Amino acid sequence: MTIWIPTLEDDTPRYRAIADAIASDVAEGRLQPGDRLPTHRELAHALGVTVGTVSRGYAEAERRGLTTGEVGRGTYVRGATSLDPWPEQPTESEIVDLTLSLPVSIPEEATALAETLRQIAGDARIGELLAYHPESADCRQRAAAAKWLGRLGLNTGADDILVTAGSQHGLTVALSTLFAPGQVVLTGELTYPSIKSQARTHGVRLRGVALDDQGICPDAVERACRMEPKPAGLYLVPTLQNPTSGILSEARRRALGRIAEKHDLWIVEDDVHAFLLPDLPAPIATYAPERTLYLSSVAKCLAPGLRTGFIVAPPALRARLLTGIHTTMWMPPPLMVEVTTRWFVDGTADRLIAAKRAETERRQQLAQQILARHAHRCHPLGYQIWLELPEPWHTDEFVTQARKRSVIVIGAGAFSVSRRHVPHAVRLSIGVPSRPALERGLKVLDDILRAQAPPLY
Ligand SMILES: Cc1ncc(COP(=O)(O)O)c(C=O)c1O
Repeated sequence: MTIWIPTLEDDTPRYRAIADAIASDVAEGRLQPGDRLPTHRELAHALGVTVGTVSRGYAEAERRGLTTGEVGRGTYVRGATSLDPWPEQPTESEIVDLTLSLPVSIPEEATALAETLRQIAGDARIGELLAYHPESADCRQRAAAAKWLGRLGLNTGADDILVTAGSQHGLTVALSTLFAPGQVVLTGELTYPSIKSQARTHGVRLRGVALDDQGICPDAVERACRMEPKPAGLYLVPTLQNPTSGILSEARRRALGRIAEKHDLWIVEDDVHAFLLPDLPAPIATYAPERTLYLSSVAKCLAPGLRTGFIVAPPALRARLLTGIHTTMWMPPPLMVEVTTRWFVDGTADRLIAAKRAETERRQQLAQQILARHAHRCHPLGYQIWLELPEPWHTDEFVTQARKRSVIVIGAGAFSVSRRHVPHAVRLSIGVPSRPALERGLKVLDDILRAQAPPLY
């Protein structure tokens, strides 16, 4: 036969369109069992796509049982009897994963990393990055972090900063330093899932307190402080509360600081999202510096792979926290801290944050258009959406229906402190998929909810 050149469907990814074309040409007899398909290079040239796209298309056709291929021998159409009888499973690229709590990633960040690594490679002091740093990071790096955190209103110097491998690491160090097994720590009745697993690991008991649109309610904390056993601490996310996106007002931050002082509570203030938003009230750590351990990280505003975070704590705790850092990993890798430091100092961090904000805002606008008729909570510059499910939906039914249509979301149970308080809601993280995939995924969720009721199975 002459070289087979398919006509590709327009609105499908190229590699899938190639596999689809093989399937329809086999079904309609244009391709016969035993026919040899063009080489990857020939077809790529004929279709004006890359050789990689053709290889992926052929691999997909083989996965569906349409073809068989051997390196060096070519790709052949299989006999009809050998076709895969099972319906097609969604491929990885069709799945829209809205579970991962990650910031929007932008192409500029890879370029910035390459440039910064080149600069570090040319620096005569590069060898210093191979040393142990007993103070968690060197003084210059801690001074840059102090200046960076100063933008939030924290009045700190290099000696007030401890550098961690991210906020999650900071949380481990905080829990093991501040609380003994069996002690009670308060947190929102919906909270960051990692505090639940970390509390279990440390033997700390979590008690959930009420949240409203702003986040933790000081009255609820005050009430919980009068209950036995008395709580020893309060863990909270004051900015873009995970998962409901509340932001504590200045009045609430002050009130929580006062409650901590009155009831001898340690506040663990996990402010990972602060640099995503402009014009925030100052951290609780500025109102109750002796009772607050402030955690920050660049995971959400720059990149989680930098694994760089910071603890600002009262001086009396510093030695014990440093021991906690030494015990868990001695110090975060200096090379990663150095990249972060240079980004703070040379303006890269500001540039990347501005680009991320712009892209996040676009995605939130898209989400608002698609989800407009459904109750949800979010912030125009945040990358999470708390979608409240109307009657008669139960969370697990909705999660299952979404998964059947290749959209993955997290149900409220992951965030609930108590099994008694599990609202019918899911969290959507909009930072990870491409914008077209996000649009597709959100439209699927809208479509499911518009059907008004789950199917009977
Ligand atoms: C509230 C909160 N704290 C901490 C983290 C983890 O931060 P890091 O990657 O710096 O450990 C997350 C990530 O999802 C988070 O949502």
